[in-house]
Amino acid sequence: MNTPAATGAPPQPRSLESAFEDTIARDQRVEPRDWMPDGYRKTLIRQIAQHAHSEIIGMQPEGEWITRAPSLRRKAILFAKVQDEAGHGLYLYSAAETLGADRADLTEWLIEGRQKYSSIFNYPTRTFADVGVIGWFVDGAAICNQVPLCRSSYGPYGRAMVRVCKEESFHQRQGYELLLTMMRGTEEQRAMVQDAVDRWWWPSLMMFGPPDDNSPNSARSMAWRIKRHTNDELRQRFVDMTVPQAEKLGVTLPDPELRWNEERGHHDFGTPDWDELKRVISGDGPCNAERIARRRAAHEEGAWVREAATAHAAKQAARASEGAAA
Ligand code: ACO
Repeated sequence: MNTPAATGAPPQPRSLESAFEDTIARDQRVEPRDWMPDGYRKTLIRQIAQHAHSEIIGMQPEGEWITRAPSLRRKAILFAKVQDEAGHGLYLYSAAETLGADRADLTEWLIEGRQKYSSIFNYPTRTFADVGVIGWFVDGAAICNQVPLCRSSYGPYGRAMVRVCKEESFHQRQGYELLLTMMRGTEEQRAMVQDAVDRWWWPSLMMFGPPDDNSPNSARSMAWRIKRHTNDELRQRFVDMTVPQAEKLGVTLPDPELRWNEERGHHDFGTPDWDELKRVISGDGPCNAERIARRRAAHEEGAWVREAATAHAAKQAARASEGAAA
């Protein structure tokens, strides 16, 4: 083959853009120091920041149950899970920083309502069964959505997703195990599980985003291989995965249109209320104001920690340079 290396000729100059397009076409990874189009960088910062915010805000609905968990075992599990979500947020903010974003700015934009986070975390957790259903549905949906993101074209995002997905799998199983335990309990406990299933089913389907014909970012993100599947494809995968689990658990999914379609090899299901999704995304969900107020308060109350850490780092740097000069 007459490649430059084979002929000893100097490599042909290629535009940065075509090198980037080649990397994407060959399904290789784009790394932080590589040249990338502005649109690619902006899309990633948008998606990764929203994802990070979702993890951090997502600590609240379940965190409310830590003090009320019914046993030490359940409390320890829930504690570990909520702590994992904080870890996921931190990996993701770090991934956004590799693109030149500033973590402090991202937090500001979240609490000022200028950046989004997942709609699902704007619903209330009314009973302890909600903890189980969040694990089963919300973390199950997160796995469907995020396993393909492990192959996202941007290296730091894909690598962060590998660990996040492993932890999400544990979260999903703990939710399902909690529900199995409740379903083996009293009539009241079974009713609590069914009630939580009824409340969380449709919002969980909305987590995947608007339908494909109304998803302005999908085509570009798929061409750049940031996203690997459309919103509707992943929603269908989630429904197909969840129906047999619901049967095993002994609960009914609240959708009269839900049935197996032999021809398609998938379940047919009803249409989520897209107006509700729009309202929740635009700030008008049942708990948006409460979630943001709590995040803002935590940020303000944490100011002294950030100041102390900055002062400590400055002291250490000064000591290190004194040591080097001596
Ligand atoms: N909640 C809030 N906003 C949403 C949601 C949702 N469920 N779905 C879509 N949106 C927003 C998009 O962010 C986009 O807004 P923007 O253009 O102002 O940024 C707009 O609605 C239109 O949607 P799409 O064009 O479909 O947007 P996109 O291609 O980014 O797809 C999706 C949305 C599927 C959420 C994608 O960003 C993604 O896969 N993100 C990573 C995963 C993630 O963030 N998960 C959150 C849950 S984390 C957890 O469960 C622990």
